[in-house]
Amino acid sequence: MAEPKTADLMDKIVSLCKRRGFIFQSSEIYGGINGFWDYGPLGVELRKNIRDCWWNDMVRRRDDVVGLESSIIMHPKVWEASGHVGGFTDPMVDCKVSKQRFRADQIFFSAVVVDGKTVGYVTVLESERIAEELQEKAETFKRKKAIQGKLEPVQPRDFTEAKSEEIPLIPSPATGEPGSLTPPRAFNMMFETYVGALRDESAVAYLRPETAQGMFVDFKAILDTGRVKVPFGIAQVGKSFRNEITPRNFIFRSREFEQMEMEYFIADDDDWAKWHRYWIDWCREWLVSVGIPASSLSEYNHPKEKLAFYSKGTTDLMFKYPFGVQELWGIAARGDYDLTQHSKASGQPMEYFDDVKKKRYVPHVIEPAVGVDRILLAILCSAYCEDQAPDEKGKMETRTVLKLHPRIAPIKVAVFPLLKNKPELVKKALEVRDLLRPYMTVFYDEAGAIGRRYRRQDEAGTPFGVTIDFDTLGEKGPELADTVTLRERDTMKQERIKISELVPKLIEKVR
Ligand code: GAP
Repeated sequence: MAEPKTADLMDKIVSLCKRRGFIFQSSEIYGGINGFWDYGPLGVELRKNIRDCWWNDMVRRRDDVVGLESSIIMHPKVWEASGHVGGFTDPMVDCKVSKQRFRADQIFFSAVVVDGKTVGYVTVLESERIAEELQEKAETFKRKKAIQGKLEPVQPRDFTEAKSEEIPLIPSPATGEPGSLTPPRAFNMMFETYVGALRDESAVAYLRPETAQGMFVDFKAILDTGRVKVPFGIAQVGKSFRNEITPRNFIFRSREFEQMEMEYFIADDDDWAKWHRYWIDWCREWLVSVGIPASSLSEYNHPKEKLAFYSKGTTDLMFKYPFGVQELWGIAARGDYDLTQHSKASGQPMEYFDDVKKKRYVPHVIEPAVGVDRILLAILCSAYCEDQAPDEKGKMETRTVLKLHPRIAPIKVAVFPLLKNKPELVKKALEVRDLLRPYMTVFYDEAGAIGRRYRRQDEAGTPFGVTIDFDTLGEKGPELADTVTLRERDTMKQERIKISELVPKLIEKVR
């Protein structure tokens, strides 16, 4: 879909997001706060459209999925039963000299081995080129130390795999010198708070690190409404909070983010692998339907030995971000673990009675879980494009355009009077704006040369532009009266159409 990709694509996207009002650093006037982001006027619309598309496709257009909005702060016992209090940790490493903190599984190191003998260690942070970067560093190390002999290929390992005797010898990624990294230790990522007036242990509560537990805890309540029969799903969209050790890559890994999760409950003896496949394919097709090219998606199956004991299988849909191929959407087959845990901890049965099979059982679950912000970033990366277009004087210039799918574009159509100092043009343009507004998001713009106004909307990803000119007023003859030019963002082609045809034509294109 989008065209030339450059190494600095991420910088260009971040700068476009700021310039056009998609995304800002949170609390920027105070120097910003790491891992938190604000969505500006275009960003909120884009985000809302992603959410709405997902909700429509996942909940409203299906008979077997219902919605839920559970509270962000839940009883602390929820998080004990789910295993988050005890085990929602990342391995953390401190650099005692620079005071920087790293995730141990994002630090990669290798021994520098010359003629079979270890002469030192080199380190890099996780990237697309871990082995190459380590090899380059090993060569530089050998050269600087003037070591003679044959350098062997590096063997990258992450810091969680470092032996205790190696830790003091591995250079810190911050200083480049060995001796300052601490051994990895488990860091719980849940944000704690207090509920009520007391500030003691008894009042501790957590901001949820995932929305999923709401669906498990309310499983019985939803079952009792009588609307659902296995197999069925419960879906939720909402904010989650994780005190990530190293938030990074713009909105990819944040401390406050939004999840769209669905727990799909199936019979205990149903073919879980079939349902797992079904939801992986559903998620992939959905991503394509909002403008993410299938060619930038791939699947990663978590190796059996790295899965939690209760998990039957987890597949991640991966997206080719400019900083590497990374997890976008996780689809996990979690067995009956979560419902069983909550049943044990609360003393409440979490069983389903199958009135056909006349049997009672705890359903198993397939969980597609995705972050809105990660989808939004994948969409921006897919849509960002630079091409050539003529300026006001016909000279070719580079045009930046966001080729957003009309379904999710923040503004669907921009309306322009050719000139702002001609009241008849302005009046007609405002009429067209008001005609379209009940059906879609419309942006009215009369400021500056028409070419500039087109460019601004190209950068905002607006798929259509409508220009009201003197022909619209009938100045070139009655046959053109009440017609406008409709410009298409990607091809820049313009066609003349009747104002009366605008609504049906545009509705068809943006839905
Ligand atoms: N209930 C399962 C669960 O939460 P997860 O893999 O930890 O699984 C699901 O998260 C999805 O949420 C991820 O695939 C990703 O899209 C998104 N996500 C997770 N952590 C995130 C973060 N720190 N910032 C942005 N998105 C995140």
